Amino acid sequence: MEIKIFDDYERMSSAAADLIIDIVKRNPVAVLCFATGNTPVLTYKLLAEKAKEEKIDFSKCFCIGLDEWLGVSPDKSGSCHYTLYHQVFRPLGIKDSQIHLFNAMTKDIESECKKMNELIEKVGGIDFLLAGVGVNGHIGFNEPGADVSLLAHDQELHDTTLSSGQNYFSEPTPIKKGITLGMAQVMKARKFLLLANGIKKAPIMKQALEANITNNVPASFIQQHAGGIVILNKEAASALSK
Ligand code: PGA
Repeated sequence: MEIKIFDDYERMSSAAADLIIDIVKRNPVAVLCFATGNTPVLTYKLLAEKAKEEKIDFSKCFCIGLDEWLGVSPDKSGSCHYTLYHQVFRPLGIKDSQIHLFNAMTKDIESECKKMNELIEKVGGIDFLLAGVGVNGHIGFNEPGADVSLLAHDQELHDTTLSSGQNYFSEPTPIKKGITLGMAQVMKARKFLLLANGIKKAPIMKQALEANITNNVPASFIQQHAGGIVILNKEAASALSK
């Protein structure tokens, strides 16, 4: 695992965008998995700008979504689906045929998970996965206490996730459960980029990076990820001792 600390949100986001550009330059057929949330917003904006400037071709990449709020329609602005289309796929010119996201409206969660698991196998695994971290240490919707051997699964969400989740929606939205790639898939991604921004992430980043690896802090598993990269700003890194 590698840790990179930047002065501010702008610099860390620029470094994260550069990293994605570099991956796609080296491997134009890369399988990319993206998270949503506040943290990667600027990364995605800069990625779109840099990709345009540098004429990076995403037309052969394949994109997967990390997670989704179950029961939230894809046309709702806080859904992961809507967010990824607006922040990543449309700006980069990525077509529907290059994308697979969880269907939040499914009545058959088991087959939705199976579809995702089989697809990941079929495309040869994930080359690059970007995730933020919850203040409770979750990765995607792998909440504290997660079974880290799981593949895609549905998950009851913790109160902290439900209350911070509401902030993504412009109006109160009933959310209760999520569907997510499992930690087994996160850990198998060839590169796993974890982003953390701001002082409110400082305590959990200390636990994730300096305490023992535990499923009570799913983000701590990045410590044993050979392709793990943590990009933080100074505030999020401010509790780290080294
Ligand atoms: P945030 O969320 O980027 O909005 O802080 C991260 C997460 O909960 O995974």
